[in-house]
Amino acid sequence: MASVLQKLITPLWSGPLEPPRNKVTVVGVGQVGMACAVSVLLRELADELALVDVVEDKLKGEMMDLQHGSLFLKTPKIVSGKDYSVTANSRIVVVTAGVRQQEGESRLNLVQRNVNIFKHIIPQIVRYSPNCILIVVSNPVDVLTYVTWKLSGLPKHRVIGSGTNLDSARFRYLMAERLGIHPSSFNGWILGEHGDSSVPVWSGVNVAGVSLQGLNPDMGTDKDKEDWKSVHKMVVDR
Ligand SMILES: NC(=O)c1ccc[n+]([C@@H]2O[C@H](COP(=O)([O-])OP(=O)(O)OC[C@H]3O[C@@H](n4cnc5c(N)ncnc54)[C@H](O)[C@@H]3O)[C@@H](O)[C@H]2O)c1
Repeated sequence: MASVLQKLITPLWSGPLEPPRNKVTVVGVGQVGMACAVSVLLRELADELALVDVVEDKLKGEMMDLQHGSLFLKTPKIVSGKDYSVTANSRIVVVTAGVRQQEGESRLNLVQRNVNIFKHIIPQIVRYSPNCILIVVSNPVDVLTYVTWKLSGLPKHRVIGSGTNLDSARFRYLMAERLGIHPSSFNGWILGEHGDSSVPVWSGVNVAGVSLQGLNPDMGTDKDKEDWKSVHKMVVDR
């Protein structure tokens, strides 16, 4: 006797299913990984989302939470697993796995621990998704992006680090807050290596094209009576 499903839906195609076109994988379901996963889902960027972590019960819990929110999302398939086969055919893989710095620890201090983790992760990702773009977030991000490029064997335009994007976003928020405007109205960049040695480009900061260094030539220097330099210190110390 036919089941409800068989009575309801008649498959018109019994061959192999098409691979996903816009699959995104997030490796590491900690705070950063889950923020990435939720952002990808809410922005409707993926037709499949895969999550990978070594802590299996946490991984399953995070996957189930996202799956149970499917009513409010447009991504039809959310999968997870410790085994990298779940990541197959990803277009983009975001790597957030690893240890993070403790209070007062520098990002560079994490390097050896996270390189060891990456030696396991990166070859597995490339094995299952040889055409993917890799986005590295784990710290120290610039070092690990280089390590990822070497470990992956991918061309350099397919290995991207998050770099100073977070530093610049924090900078724009904190500068805008001090000026009483929205961060999108304040323009400025932080360049160099993510973290302690990053460099704010004071000559370029502007509001609606009006150079702030034009208004205060001492901006960003020790001579500055308004001490705008402290904003960059707040970016680094966060
Ligand atoms: N680039 C940036 O701007 C930026 C910003 C914030 C954090 N980070 C970095 O991102 C990383 C993650 O931060 P977090 O706050 O999410 O940390 P977290 O501790 O909350 O999460 C890390 C996750 O990685 C998992 N993990 C550890 N080893 C693994 C492995 N071999 N394979 C798969 N998963 C593994 C852990 O189980 C954990 O779930 C850290 O290195 C942190 O310093 C970078």
